[in-house]
Amino acid sequence: MKGIILAGGRGTRLCPLTKVTNKHLLPVGKEPMIFNPVKQLVSAGITDIMVITSKDHMGEIVRLLGSGRDFGCDFTFKVQEEALGIAHALLLAENFARGNKVVVILGDNIATCSIKPYVERFVRQGTGARVLLRRVEDPEHYGIAALDELKIVEIEEKPRHPRSSYAVIGIYMYDKEVFDMIRKIRPSERGEYEITSVNNEYIKSSQLCYDILHGKWADAGTFESLAYANQIMLAVNNQLSEEWNDVDADTI
Ligand code: DAU
Repeated sequence: MKGIILAGGRGTRLCPLTKVTNKHLLPVGKEPMIFNPVKQLVSAGITDIMVITSKDHMGEIVRLLGSGRDFGCDFTFKVQEEALGIAHALLLAENFARGNKVVVILGDNIATCSIKPYVERFVRQGTGARVLLRRVEDPEHYGIAALDELKIVEIEEKPRHPRSSYAVIGIYMYDKEVFDMIRKIRPSERGEYEITSVNNEYIKSSQLCYDILHGKWADAGTFESLAYANQIMLAVNNQLSEEWNDVDADTI
């Protein structure tokens, strides 16, 4: 299993904090934001990790993360020339993945509990993809899962009229087919290759499973959510909890 952290994008919602630096270098608790996804992957036993970012910030990211020795992992770095979307960034990792399954984490997704149990379920799942859901109060800002009974029937990206309050958070698990799935999708109305379109391809082939994420979580991409991410990370001294209760999981 390989890990991929997406740390590109423009971070425009956090301007001027992101005018001269990359969003994922901003402090969350006592550490730079990107440490959390790195620790998440390592906690799940994934130590071969690609970090993808823009060319403007690659130097700073490499200077911060180094070889991976301090985290107990190995980093490979890749430049995304233009911020054309999450799925576009992920496609850049195809050669790195070399036919392995991948766990992809959006660099601004901060969680307090280790993802290890979900990754273990994904390993047992065999083929397909696995996403993590979380109830949110502002569903119009996320990819939202429309559920029928316990099945995800569709995911809508930032819907004006959300069909549930379950957000698909930015931690995704894919089999080797993901890169072919990405090649099938077209850019959305906002001109981005959306990860939601990729997940919908897996739904079409009845291959998307999910878990409900435990612990505390934040998408630290706005001022309010960055403040919340700081709060939850300070409360746990930036340590991941390995405690979790068995959760319901379903396949469509
Ligand atoms: O946080 C969960 C949400 O993340 C999901 O519910 C949405 O379905 C998903 O689209 C995403 O929404 P955001 O609006 O938060 O995505 P954002 O543009 O902020 O990008 C998320 C991360 O992905 C960010 O840390 C940088 C990275 N990224 C983004 C783009 C557009 C890249 O590496 N390259 C890119 O081109």
